[in-house]
Amino acid sequence: MELLLRLLVAHVILLALSYSFVYCYDPSPLQDFCVAANETNGVFVNGKVCKDPKSVTANDFSYSGLNIPGNTTSFIGSNVTTVDVNKIPGLNTLGVSLARLDFARGGQNPPHIHPRASEILMVTKGTLLVGFVSSNQDNNRLFSKVLRTGDVFVFPIGLIHFQMNVGRTRAVAFAGFGSQNPGTITIADAVFGSSPSIPREVLAKAFQLDANLVRFLQIVYGPALWS
Ligand SMILES: *[C@@H]1O[C@H](CO)[C@@H](O)[C@H](O)[C@H]1NC(C)=O
Ligand SMILES: *[C@@H]1O[C@H](CO)[C@@H](O)[C@H](O)[C@H]1NC(C)=O
Ligand SMILES: *[C@@H]1O[C@H](CO)[C@@H](O)[C@H](O)[C@H]1NC(C)=O
Repeated sequence: MELLLRLLVAHVILLALSYSFVYCYDPSPLQDFCVAANETNGVFVNGKVCKDPKSVTANDFSYSGLNIPGNTTSFIGSNVTTVDVNKIPGLNTLGVSLARLDFARGGQNPPHIHPRASEILMVTKGTLLVGFVSSNQDNNRLFSKVLRTGDVFVFPIGLIHFQMNVGRTRAVAFAGFGSQNPGTITIADAVFGSSPSIPREVLAKAFQLDANLVRFLQIVYGPALWS
């Protein structure tokens, strides 16, 4: 009986421990900083190799140029300049990063996901229609708002979201992320532009589209152009 009780307690402790892992996003650092070394070889798992702290300088924590607008002449009419661990090596293990978003008139940042971070966005110029959609368990509800200069909006981790310039001028926003490397999955690019392509019959049935329309979208979005 006592053995059983001990086993039960051990089980509960293990469960509690595993929960604390589930609930953290970027792992907590165990030192002041771990500036990413410029290693070009090898695979990084959960962060990058640290530089010798003695060789770390202020420049490792710095980036310049976020005052410069991104070029928004592409079809989609937006440009995202990310300042993540790949731009500031000192962000390694710290669990934060930043981006500048520029929008031409009518431009949009199309529906996408950040698999590793929630996002908090502030409009510094213009008017943006923004929104995110909750998951299946919440019946895919759309949470949407029109934001003006000074307005802030939050996009929860892993949910599909978008921003669109609905004003008469260009628009600018800055966004903070809860990861050194939030990552981006642009839905249309990932679904219709994967390499190699997802079989046409899968997409036709999933999206209730004619196979020719799927073929067209695969040409527009991706490598199918050359296949
Ligand atoms: C990192 O290494 C690459 C390739 O060797 C080089 O082009 C780049 O300038 C280096 N970056 C830094 C910050 O030293
Ligand atoms: C974003 O802007 C930068 C700088 O103007 C430019 O080099 C880059 O090609 C643009 N990206 C897209 C997707 O248009
Ligand atoms: C933006 O990119 C387009 C296409 O690549 C180019 O023609 C144009 O000169 C660029 N504009 C700026 C301000 O760099």
